[in-house]
Amino acid sequence: MSERAAAAGTADRGEPLLSVRNLRTEIDTDDGTLVAVNDISLDLFADEVLAVVGESGSGKTMLALSILGLLPGPRARTTAGEVRLAGEDLLAASPLRRRRARGAEIAMIFQDPLTALNPVHRVGDQIAEMLRAHRPVRKRYARLRAEDLLERVGIPDADRRARCYPHELSGGMRQRVMIAMAVALDPVVLIADEPTTALDATVQAQVLEVLSEVRQRMSGAMMIITHDLGVVAGTADSVMVMYAGHCVERGGVHDVYRRPSHPYTAGLLAAVPRLNITAARLTPIAGSPPVPVGTTPGCSFAPRCPLATDLCEQQRPGLGRLKGLPVSASSMEAAVACHHPITEGRR
Ligand SMILES: Nc1ncnc2c1ncn2[C@@H]1O[C@H](COP(=O)(O)OP(=O)(O)OP(=O)(O)O)[C@@H](O)[C@H]1O
Ligand SMILES: [Mg+2]
Repeated sequence: MSERAAAAGTADRGEPLLSVRNLRTEIDTDDGTLVAVNDISLDLFADEVLAVVGESGSGKTMLALSILGLLPGPRARTTAGEVRLAGEDLLAASPLRRRRARGAEIAMIFQDPLTALNPVHRVGDQIAEMLRAHRPVRKRYARLRAEDLLERVGIPDADRRARCYPHELSGGMRQRVMIAMAVALDPVVLIADEPTTALDATVQAQVLEVLSEVRQRMSGAMMIITHDLGVVAGTADSVMVMYAGHCVERGGVHDVYRRPSHPYTAGLLAAVPRLNITAARLTPIAGSPPVPVGTTPGCSFAPRCPLATDLCEQQRPGLGRLKGLPVSASSMEAAVACHHPITEGRR
């Protein structure tokens, strides 16, 4: 295993498409410096789907925005770490190079399509303009291609819908437009931030289906961000669980869902009744996550954790590899940041 692969806990499968190392993003707030992304490392290989899960405020969106270099305003900045796209260090790249990479090589489906889409332009024109910003194509070709893309994501009457403004479309349609825009340039890495949160259950299923089709057609990798573990159960290969900016557990989806090791992961899974979890006696977590401002010496989850001891209050557990687990099909090796991980005997 290479040094880089070892750092992210992945099997050595050649160069990852996206490689993040020890990423740290801070936001200045009136209450002090908030560490929204705290020492996050991950690798994403071709054809792989990684789910990033965690409650609201755990840092999922900030992680995605840090990777893309799209942090909101001067109060937020990435202060440490590396983001490599097919080996190229994006954080060290020029603003122009980063802008070119965004959309064309690494694209994002934003959490809120209404704010991500421009309200005063027709959706077809927005996709066409995006194409023309990156490729030397004629207006007419770009328009036709936009219609193709809308059709590809399952929008009926694509030529008519292309002439609609965002507010004239339903939530599900808008999310499809976002997906069409994100895949327009065949990016190698696609990040989907809560792609189905605002949608009702039937439309959620349709949008997930579209995403899954899109993924099969692209040769790249996908990172799906969600607070709903049920959404990614059947889609993802690996999962990373975030809490207060940290990665508290990661591994193959199957392993983590069947045998959660972190009490937080177990609590999250217990909150999803439709998942057929075999681990017995999982109890949902009471309380809410802390806002990660200032430094606390111990585990951020300790105040809510049923298994916490004095050690947890005093010392932050590092992310350690889990021993004794069968080798997973996922490239991500199981790891947990917990002084008292749940073991088989304790379930
Ligand atoms: N623009 C901002 N200014 C100040 N703080 C912010 C800003 N955006 C996010 N934060 C804070 O950063 C932390 C991480 O937020 P983030 O949006 O990444 O969470 P999330 O996991 O995506 O949550 P959700 O599931 O609600 O989308 C939170 O404490 C949040 O309050
Ligand atoms: Mg978010």
